[in-house]
Amino acid sequence: MNELDTLVDNARAAFANATAPADLENAKAQFLGKSGRITELMKGMAQLPVDEKKSRGAAINVAKQAIEAALTERRQQLADAELDVQLRAEALDVTLPGRRRAGGGLHPVARAQERIEAIFASMGFDVADGPEIETDWYSFTSLNNPPNHPARSMQDTFYVDMKDEEGLLFNLRPHTSPMQVRYAQAHAKKYAGQEHMPDIRVIAPGRTYRVDSDATHSPMFHQVEGLWIGENVSFKDLKVMYLDFVRTFFETDALKLRFRPSYFPFTEPSAEIDIMFEQGPLAGRWLEVSGSGQVHPQVVRNMGLDPERYIGFAFGSGIDRLAMLRYGVNDLRLFFDGDLRFLSQFQ
Ligand code: PHE
Repeated sequence: MNELDTLVDNARAAFANATAPADLENAKAQFLGKSGRITELMKGMAQLPVDEKKSRGAAINVAKQAIEAALTERRQQLADAELDVQLRAEALDVTLPGRRRAGGGLHPVARAQERIEAIFASMGFDVADGPEIETDWYSFTSLNNPPNHPARSMQDTFYVDMKDEEGLLFNLRPHTSPMQVRYAQAHAKKYAGQEHMPDIRVIAPGRTYRVDSDATHSPMFHQVEGLWIGENVSFKDLKVMYLDFVRTFFETDALKLRFRPSYFPFTEPSAEIDIMFEQGPLAGRWLEVSGSGQVHPQVVRNMGLDPERYIGFAFGSGIDRLAMLRYGVNDLRLFFDGDLRFLSQFQ
């Protein structure tokens, strides 16, 4: 092997040893640089006789081209390797399932409330919202439940350390009935002195509070109360309307309803409303879903209306209770634990 072949081999070996582009450029300088081996060989030609110069020059050129080719090849290899590393680092597996943003959703109780509002709206009821911190008069006295009346203990609630004009503490409303009174008062005022007053038809859904806590009672719960007052409204209307409501809410006609005598200070007579499913897992048992009754004349008077002329009914149902029955939930507390494993089942 002549000296030039050895030089080419050495260059190839040096290039192969270079594993980074900078190393390769250093190796290149050794062979092709200004003071590299090839340049030196070219300079050495100066002493040669003219006839030898030609063949020697051609031979050096062949070696130079071989080294340049080896350099180009190695540069390409290193560039390919670098690209490969980069591609691997940025690898994208298009077969992976996409990442979704977790969707929020309505709480089952809010969902039930929206349903209830839609059903009553379709029956011509207005939906009224009102304060959760109430005066003693609206929560109790206006509802014919004066201070010291024993019926107040049925609705024992929480009090706020703040007194109203009568010197009585504000309370967290134990039912949404106060909103019925507020709504009816506004209605009566609006039509005062007029020949004709349209019927009052309203539901008041919302948060309510009581000193109660077990699997079926929570210190905070949700109620929907309804009120229908007019010149000729009776229990018959309540029955037809409520039956229609529960059948729509539970999406079944295989459902019976009964009134069971009860007591509330604000209604006379008063009744609990029980329903019984004829099919499904709850079939055959009477389930209490609502209090109800004919609005007491004193309450009608407190609303600013003449009880000799106006009469009607009211009911109060637990939204949580209705949601439990609809979704088959057996512990009320599950609604308020905030456990996503439970809540996401309703989405
Ligand atoms: N306000 C009653 C309660 O909270 C329910 C009710 C409303 C009963 C209207 C009769 C009429 O228990």
